Amino acid sequence: MTMASPILELEGVSKNFGGLKVIDNLSFKVMPAERVALIGPNGAGKTTAFNLITDLYRVDSGRIVLDGRDITTVPSRKRIGLGIARSFQNIRLMPHLTVLENVMIGQSAHNASALAMFQPVNLFPGNRWRVHAREALGAAGLGQYALETTGALPYGIQKRIELVRALLSEPRILLLDEPAAGLNPSETEELRQQLNETSRRGVTLIVVEHDMHFIGAFCQRVVVLNFGCKIAECSPHEAQADPLVREAYLGSDEELGQTHAA
Ligand SMILES: Nc1ncnc2c1ncn2[C@@H]1O[C@H](COP(=O)(O)OP(=O)(O)O)[C@@H](O)[C@H]1O
Ligand SMILES: [Mg+2]
Repeated sequence: MTMASPILELEGVSKNFGGLKVIDNLSFKVMPAERVALIGPNGAGKTTAFNLITDLYRVDSGRIVLDGRDITTVPSRKRIGLGIARSFQNIRLMPHLTVLENVMIGQSAHNASALAMFQPVNLFPGNRWRVHAREALGAAGLGQYALETTGALPYGIQKRIELVRALLSEPRILLLDEPAAGLNPSETEELRQQLNETSRRGVTLIVVEHDMHFIGAFCQRVVVLNFGCKIAECSPHEAQADPLVREAYLGSDEELGQTHAA
């Protein structure tokens, strides 16, 4: 019998900023197609963990392993090529460009050719990237916004456009940093459906999120950080009942809300 092996492993990863240990000997594994939440109070190190996985920052010590291969020293561009994509805590779309252009810029970033990055994105109507981008927007139910100016659209739509952009690199692992933040309940539900669809296609999802309702309904497992240390790794339901986890949130400006068992 062969056991499935993890798609991603952090092994004793640490990161300091000016003497402050922001990530402290962090280890966890993620299995292929799993939906994992990374939670913890503000400043716990969640975004930093994503920055280390994507090589926005290089680890001080420890290893990052993708499919059994040590990628600790692999630069971020190559990590994208190996199938790691992310969305950011704050929207990083160009507000003055159209939705289609924004999505295509994401594609260019994943092209091998640096030249593609600097080419005007909308010169060639029949260009296969353009066709691909349009199809992806359509599949996400966002086709009607393709030619609109991005900055004029509602926040919830912009968040979903970012997700389409991240998915165009056909990642195997998608890191989502607070995807539901600022969304109203119906936008959150639309996002959840989009992520469900992504998960069904086999993409591994690691989600930083505060909305425990969302996590309870969507994630199979949570890794809980506090001051850069892992303090729990369990089901969303168990996390919510865990005294250590509850204590970590005490006195923080967030609440550990109720989970709703999926
Ligand atoms: N580039 C940086 N330089 C210095 N300190 C940083 C940097 N990035 C993050 N930090 C610090 O690391 C800690 C964790 O930050 P972060 O990972 O953004 O937390 P979270 O996403 O869990 O709210 C915070 O104390 C933050 O101030
Ligand atoms: Mg953060």
